[in-house]
Amino acid sequence: MRLDKLLANLGYGSRSDIKKMIKSGQVMVDGQVCKKPEFALKEEGDRILNQVIYAGNLLNYKKYSYLMMNKPAGVVSALRDSKEKTAYSLIDNPVKDLGIVGRLDKDTRGLLLFTNDGNLAHKLLSPRKHVEKEYLFTCKNPLNQEDIRAYEEGVVIKDHAKGEVDYKTKPAKLTILDDYTGRLVITEGKYHQVKRMLAARDNQVLSLKRIRMGGLFLDESLKEGDYRELSDEELLLLQQ
Ligand code: URA
Repeated sequence: MRLDKLLANLGYGSRSDIKKMIKSGQVMVDGQVCKKPEFALKEEGDRILNQVIYAGNLLNYKKYSYLMMNKPAGVVSALRDSKEKTAYSLIDNPVKDLGIVGRLDKDTRGLLLFTNDGNLAHKLLSPRKHVEKEYLFTCKNPLNQEDIRAYEEGVVIKDHAKGEVDYKTKPAKLTILDDYTGRLVITEGKYHQVKRMLAARDNQVLSLKRIRMGGLFLDESLKEGDYRELSDEELLLLQQ
């Protein structure tokens, strides 16, 4: 891989800015200033074997980045938006081609995943894979045993993607934590799904937080708006 490409992939700026940075001598390769943007780095698998230092930092290159964010309410799950603040804008130096895996509504908080690994993103979102998503919610009316049965059975919501035709949700598991708080595990990701599932039972979501996707749990020690790379173990859990 070329030196300028590495820095671009790591989110250090546009290719032309990076070329200038390199030519002005700000980048070191294997202990020496390297002023050649086209310098060919040695690769092995998804690792770069050369030691590359920029602005005093040793660059830790990984082909793919997997970030977990504790999304706050009030930001939209988008890469860019003309009016709203985006979750993506909270990330410093995002790597190239970083995308969001499974959006959350503006007022929903919790686990939001970002990656440039298109394959994994595709698998996690594919309706055929039935990846579980777990949500904590509070609601306006008390929950009851009949709700548990109804969600197990499936409730009818409108399918926006198909022009508002009736759609029966796949079996979902509701756990009642107290009258007005529940945990719902669903295996699909329709638009406003949890809110519409509660509406289908004449109830209303007052707050919503995603706490799990597949085997990956939200790290509750992350403050809202903070994010971090997944550990190798977490990545394995997600891939399974
Ligand atoms: N279901 C919703 O209604 N909203 C979300 O943000 C996620 C799931």
